[in-house]
Amino acid sequence: MNYRHHFHAGNFADVMKHVLLLRLIAGMQRKEKGFLYLDTHAGRGAYVLAAAARGDSLARQPEHPLGIGRLVSRSDLPPGVADYVTLVRSFDQQRGGRGDGTGHYPGSPWLVQLRARPQDRLVLCELHPEEHAELAREFALGPRAQVVAADGYAAVRAYLPPLERRALVLIDPPFEAQDEFARIVSAVAEALRRLPGAVIAIWYPLTERARLDAFIGELCALALPPTLELELAVAGPGSALKLKGCGLVVLNPPWKFDAETSPLLEWLAAALAQEPGGGARVRWLVEEKVPS
Ligand SMILES: C[S@@+](CC[C@H](N)C(=O)[O-])C[C@H]1O[C@@H](n2cnc3c(N)ncnc32)[C@H](O)[C@@H]1O
Repeated sequence: MNYRHHFHAGNFADVMKHVLLLRLIAGMQRKEKGFLYLDTHAGRGAYVLAAAARGDSLARQPEHPLGIGRLVSRSDLPPGVADYVTLVRSFDQQRGGRGDGTGHYPGSPWLVQLRARPQDRLVLCELHPEEHAELAREFALGPRAQVVAADGYAAVRAYLPPLERRALVLIDPPFEAQDEFARIVSAVAEALRRLPGAVIAIWYPLTERARLDAFIGELCALALPPTLELELAVAGPGSALKLKGCGLVVLNPPWKFDAETSPLLEWLAAALAQEPGGGARVRWLVEEKVPS
């Protein structure tokens, strides 16, 4: 386990994932009934962006200036992006930063915790001992969050179905392991068996298109519920950039999530572009049904 998220915190991929995560939370909270938020790969919860430039041995090029750094000075943020930027700024300010996207950055656990209502609950899984220790420290006093040093894929079996019978699951692995895609597919199959209505969001990197197409094919073979795929590319397919973009597959998305998020992703694709040829794509893998 070499992956450490703090090198990447606040980069374009975090921006895309976290903007969409907040929209998913808002969608879940249209209903009064509480839900379980299960973060299978939670990370350390909060990041000091200055640390991103300090590599383990060599200095690194920080990634946040091309992510959150591109947004903080914009005065034309669409509401769904403004909601995210406002939350990130206030998190930074609460920790003594200037709120300018260079200080403290909240990971997915904190973004959700800041929005959780008394009836909502968080289970945060992190396997790396140092990241887990930091996450446990962050949430030691949190009333609604449980931090577990567990394999996030196994947690799907342990925590679903929840008492609330409603869940939002974020699967956000580091993609270090050769079998990561296969593990995701079997965890999704297990989650659907246990709670067919679970909202499940899976983040993936846009690196090798053929491998991704195979992954999407394997997912679709599961007889999925309504499922939306959202992609943001910061460069064209022929770019030499290792990470050309990223995507989120969302099973059982909130009603009209596609219409809500398409303009946000179009806007982000322009704001976060690194090379020509990028863009946004939102497509149904399985169409949502019009309620009768
Ligand atoms: C991409 S980061 C998570 C970022 C976080 N979700 C966010 O948005 O702020 C992935 C994390 O998963 C952890 N990890 C790797 N394998 C894991 C596993 N099998 N179960 C739980 N955590 C794991 C890594 O240590 C790393 O901190």
